[in-house]
Amino acid sequence: MEERRTMQQSPPGETERKVAVRLSGVTKSFGDFAAVDDVSLDIYEGEFFSLLGPSGCGKTTTLRMIAGFEEPTAGEISVAGQQVQGVPPYKRPVNTVFQSYAIFPHLDVFDNVAFGLKRAGVKGDELRRRVTKACGMVQLAGYEKRRPNMLSGGQQQRVALARALVNRPKVLLLDEPLGALDLKLRKELQLELRTLQEEVGITFVYVTHDQEEALTMSDRIAVMNEGKVQQVADPATLYERPRNRFVAGFIGQTNVISGKVESVNGDRVLIKTAAGAEIEAIAHEEVRVEVGAEAHLAVRPEKLRFGNSGDNVFAAEVRQIVYLGASTQYIMKLADGGRLIVYQQNAHDATVNAAVGDEAQVSCDATNCLVLGG
Ligand SMILES: Nc1ncnc2c1ncn2[C@@H]1O[C@H](COP(=O)(O)OP(=O)(O)OP(=O)(O)O)[C@@H](O)[C@H]1O
Ligand SMILES: [Mg+2]
Repeated sequence: MEERRTMQQSPPGETERKVAVRLSGVTKSFGDFAAVDDVSLDIYEGEFFSLLGPSGCGKTTTLRMIAGFEEPTAGEISVAGQQVQGVPPYKRPVNTVFQSYAIFPHLDVFDNVAFGLKRAGVKGDELRRRVTKACGMVQLAGYEKRRPNMLSGGQQQRVALARALVNRPKVLLLDEPLGALDLKLRKELQLELRTLQEEVGITFVYVTHDQEEALTMSDRIAVMNEGKVQQVADPATLYERPRNRFVAGFIGQTNVISGKVESVNGDRVLIKTAAGAEIEAIAHEEVRVEVGAEAHLAVRPEKLRFGNSGDNVFAAEVRQIVYLGASTQYIMKLADGGRLIVYQQNAHDATVNAAVGDEAQVSCDATNCLVLGG
């Protein structure tokens, strides 16, 4: 178990990378409620790492423990190779950017960004040079004399970023920093932040509940639910090889089909549904399957196609058609009453001719049907 976890969390071929933040068996309890429950994670130097999960799953609590605003109830945290237990926030080599713009309203941009450096005794030319550079990094050159009330929300958040980056922390912790911004600005800043992170090379630990945001920005993502890490992987692996039902449902859209395991042959698994259909699926090595046991399999809507050319063929009735521009979503009803969602690209040679009420066959390959773990 331990060995498998380590393998899972190492980026392929880069097992020798330096660890920036390590959480070992970290638990945080409030009364008898475990907000964070036995979390172990390695975050590598220079990585853009996201903690992703629904509201209340323990993301902020995890980040606050790395920052030093909370101490774990059990387990250990190290930053840049140093145990940080009992070390106050300001003595840790980390900085935090919060969702709300924690900048001083009475100070202009320059003085906001300079604040920490001044306290550390930096002055004169060096202070000016470093503050000007940090303002430039976040596209605020020329705004140094403005007060926060003369800045947009996005600009205020850039000030908070500059202030957090100016003293070059080893690790930057960001808790939904774009959460208060409108969608268009958020999308712009997502790309900007990613570029900035690559330029400065600082490890970013980024908290979000928005899966699209995490997929867009991250090298790797830890998906959390109810205080526990469900899976740690790069975006493509999370999408293509979700380990369990929670991850499959949280990352993108998916169809889940349930049945009993009829046979297992290597990674090929035959599953029989209650309606008697036999479905050939793949079980990855970390998923345990036993003949006779109940199993759930996931198939992404875009891996299904009309016709009977795949390994698995489903007969279903078209219930609803939703035109989405680049693709069309078909909501289908299976013979056993189950629902199947099918996406078809609206390519120039699209040939789907289904109408609501039609009986149709849809199919997929066994390699796109994944048996899910618990
Ligand atoms: N100081 C506290 N005392 C008691 N319970 C707390 C405290 N801080 C957090 N919790 C609880 O711990 C759980 C995790 O909270 P946390 O803030 O880490 O969630 P989150 O994943 O950041 O959620 P969101 O996406 O809504 O910000 C929640 O159920 C929350 O109510
Ligand atoms: Mg939070």
